[in-house]
Amino acid sequence: MLSPDVQARPAGPLNPMLSTPQLQAIATLAARRAGEHVLANLHRRGDVNSVLRTDVKHKLDVEAQETATAVILSAFPDHAILGEETCDAPLPESDTVWIIDPIDGTINFFHGLPWWCCSVAVRFKGQAVAGAVFIPEMHQMYEATFDGPALCNGVPIQVSKTDRIDLAILATGADKWDLGEHAFRFMRKVSEIGQRPRILGAAAVDMCMVAAGKLDGYFESGIYVWDMAAASLIVERAGGQCEILKAYPKHRMAFLATNGGVHAACRDALLPLLNV
Ligand code: IPD
Repeated sequence: MLSPDVQARPAGPLNPMLSTPQLQAIATLAARRAGEHVLANLHRRGDVNSVLRTDVKHKLDVEAQETATAVILSAFPDHAILGEETCDAPLPESDTVWIIDPIDGTINFFHGLPWWCCSVAVRFKGQAVAGAVFIPEMHQMYEATFDGPALCNGVPIQVSKTDRIDLAILATGADKWDLGEHAFRFMRKVSEIGQRPRILGAAAVDMCMVAAGKLDGYFESGIYVWDMAAASLIVERAGGQCEILKAYPKHRMAFLATNGGVHAACRDALLPLLNV
């Protein structure tokens, strides 16, 4: 059963003042503008507030979130915004919440790898309505609404048909808060069940690749709501399956996104490790 966090369908009718195409258009514009801001500043890849072993705090992350926020608030001044860069600030009261990851894959971006993206989602009463993931250096815009197809650059996409877990290509990640024995148990399990695994470094990009049928699944033991809010809707509307395997405080979760065909096998292998 899907967690309410990733169910695609809104709980009730959308606010009549809001139309899904309008929300989608703003999500897409916000993700595109954020990405364009970063692209225009590629010469500032080294412009950071701090570099840690587990994370990079980049000035362009902050600026890209401000860019996306300005697009959203100019269209919907009374909506709430949960952004990675301001995630500790209290959220204003609103049925409609926008969720922004200005640069997902910041370490990749910092080192010059093109596997990073800008992600914007909108939820109404907790349910995903629309989302966009822009991968600027790959010139790809992924989009979905709760009632429409998943698209890449305007063309409908579908998950893969793989149903043999031993032949499935799975991506996973290195949890930024746990690079110890606990994290390696998950990596070992992902390597044991599928083809040789990938660690590509940007959760939302990985999930878009699941939506596009280029990966069969993605699992991480600790990601955040802004990493998955837009991409999970895109996976589901491409025919895949998403599940929060375990929820933690402060928007953190263990998360699985697959093509559906290998979902149960992944879940059965990984879930027991979460309860150790
Ligand atoms: C991170 C990336 C990374 C994943 C981390 C995320 P950020 O997001 O998606 O691939 O392993 O769990 O937090 O910090 O670059 O936005």
